[in-house]
Amino acid sequence: MTKIKIGQVGLGRLGQVHASNIVNHVNDAELYAVASVVDKELEYAKEELGVKNCYKSYSEMIENDELDAVVIVSPSGFHAVQITQALEKGLHVFSEKPIGLELENIRQVVDKINDNPGKVFQLGFMRRFDESYLYAKEAVDSGNLGKITAMRCYGIDPSAGLDSFIQFAKNSASGGIFLDMSIHDIDLVRWFTGSEFKTVYSLGNNIAAPELSECEELETGACLSELEDGTIAYFLAGRNAHHGYHVETEIIGTEGMIRIGNAPEKNLVTLYDKNGVVRPTSGHFPERFRFAFINELNTFVNSIKNKEKSSVTGVDGLKSTEVAIAMQESFETKNIITL
Ligand code: NAI
Repeated sequence: MTKIKIGQVGLGRLGQVHASNIVNHVNDAELYAVASVVDKELEYAKEELGVKNCYKSYSEMIENDELDAVVIVSPSGFHAVQITQALEKGLHVFSEKPIGLELENIRQVVDKINDNPGKVFQLGFMRRFDESYLYAKEAVDSGNLGKITAMRCYGIDPSAGLDSFIQFAKNSASGGIFLDMSIHDIDLVRWFTGSEFKTVYSLGNNIAAPELSECEELETGACLSELEDGTIAYFLAGRNAHHGYHVETEIIGTEGMIRIGNAPEKNLVTLYDKNGVVRPTSGHFPERFRFAFINELNTFVNSIKNKEKSSVTGVDGLKSTEVAIAMQESFETKNIITL
């Protein structure tokens, strides 16, 4: 079978990871075209990745009739319109999270996705493709833990990236810490429990980065929530982990518990020296989720080839965004929000 021809928009922090993965690790696809507003990034794609069709505009790129699919890795505010444009051109769509920043917009996009059942749509919740999370999911689904009673989710970015986030936040909207970061944890809680959120109560502070208050962003956000099946879920998102990139999930059940990423280990090495006994940690998301990013794109391409539905749908994107927006509203109004 001929390779699936992909056009990718966005070649920034994550875009370069996806582009390089398509070229080097997705055998059944070809990175046929790219679009970016930054010349240097287009040069990188041409020189380093050998991409022949480079565009300064997404709309122009999707006019190329050779394309089968798009991979959207532009800033979050562009996703809704770019997904819609791609579906209207008859293209399969992989989009980074979130689908959009506003609920009404996202609902329209989800309707559009549902109106095009012949086109694969997959959202970038890559943790579902990480081997540790897949192992845990199998254990939960096989009943090893009994019934889930509580989950605890930590997602803390490395402090090494805090200054650049402050600069970013001065110029662009991330959607807030819950939409930008907790959304992955919200999706995991829905995935593991199979239940929807009922109530959320959030808090936040900028003790570690007071400058963020000026741009209405948070360094630390926390939320306590209840699901429809009674599960209690606690979330903590932050941007100041000094030891690296800390993503940790705990699932407590009636028959046992699971911890994923207890310490965010880099590998199996333990170092014994003057500092004591040290476990090196992963430094950032491309490192921690290296294989998950590869697996999710292979799954997308396989779904196109096999004419199958994706396992991470538009509805998953909508539901998790509803929860993240409720968390933000709870922080802003200091109220418990019922979904
Ligand atoms: P970035 O700011 O590093 O890169 C954005 C890219 O989009 C740049 O290449 C820029 O030139 C391009 N761009 C901006 N406006 C454009 C336009 N109008 N048309 C075409 N290209 C345009 O952003 P980053 O960190 O790579 O994030 C991109 C997306 O990926 C965001 O939606 C973010 O939420 C998501 N993301 C997801 C992660 C995950 O864990 N799944 C991790 C990091 C980001």
